[in-house]
Amino acid sequence: MKVITKTAELQRILSCGDTIITGFVPTMGALHEGHLSLVERCRRECDLTVVSIFVNPTQFNDPGDLKNYPRTPERDRSLLEKAGVDVVFMPDVDEIYPEKDVRLFSFGHLDKVMEGEKRPGHFNGVAQIVSKLFDIVQPEKAYFGEKDFQQLAIIRALIKKLGYNIEIVGCPIKRDGDGLALSSRNVLLNPQQRQAAPLIYRVLSQAVGMKDEKSIEELCLWVTENIDRDPELKVEYFNIVDSLTLQPVKDWNENGEKYGCIAVKVGNVRLIDNLKFC
Ligand code: PAJ
Repeated sequence: MKVITKTAELQRILSCGDTIITGFVPTMGALHEGHLSLVERCRRECDLTVVSIFVNPTQFNDPGDLKNYPRTPERDRSLLEKAGVDVVFMPDVDEIYPEKDVRLFSFGHLDKVMEGEKRPGHFNGVAQIVSKLFDIVQPEKAYFGEKDFQQLAIIRALIKKLGYNIEIVGCPIKRDGDGLALSSRNVLLNPQQRQAAPLIYRVLSQAVGMKDEKSIEELCLWVTENIDRDPELKVEYFNIVDSLTLQPVKDWNENGEKYGCIAVKVGNVRLIDNLKFC
């Protein structure tokens, strides 16, 4: 496995091989089985697997969150080596942003709801870094988790907007045995918070079974009340949205797939999750 920190060197390596399909998995490190499931899929489907590890400052709207974001570079390297990755790209901030990135992206209503509303500037930062990484790596395929449901929709829109010929592959959410969606931020939870957090998925799963007896409005209220009942958890939003437009759905009879998307504050840590409702 090659570990590269410089863009020019990465491009040199990528251009001199005779790879047919390059697959790319962008990450911010502090890797877990969720990330590794993307890597596995990439390895299965591509000739060369490139993983990036870069904690992208421009997508953090909260400086405290950036400072506390877990960083485990040695462990990440050894996990990726074991997973059979070909190339790891771990640039530092100046390598990626030699000067301030002032590009502004707009995704219509896609980045106005949910995470976009609660974390102003977040998706602009995601679009900045992902477009830069795509320009550097120029993959045929790129792998993203459905855990970040809105991010995946925005990446698909980004590809269209910039005219990139990259296949975006969405991968299912990996969960711990108790149902909690794996996240790099889970290590920031204290023992009581960690014990409380699986309630999020339990309530979402129960709610899926209630869609014939409750209206969408009633169900949203029920989910929020049942999670907020735990003193460790505070729902920031819960919406049932159309899977393509991400707009809140008012009626179960509307066409299209519907996903329940949630953000919950657990102390200072923010967790997101989602589940398909119908
Ligand atoms: P990060 O949070 O490190 O996630 C990297 C990729 O792993 C994302 O596509 C994310 O959706 C996926 N992922 C995270 N947890 C997962 C889980 N439990 N199951 C399946 N996939 C999971 O998302 C980012 O980094 C950044 O925003 C990035 C795209 C790298 C841009 O900086």
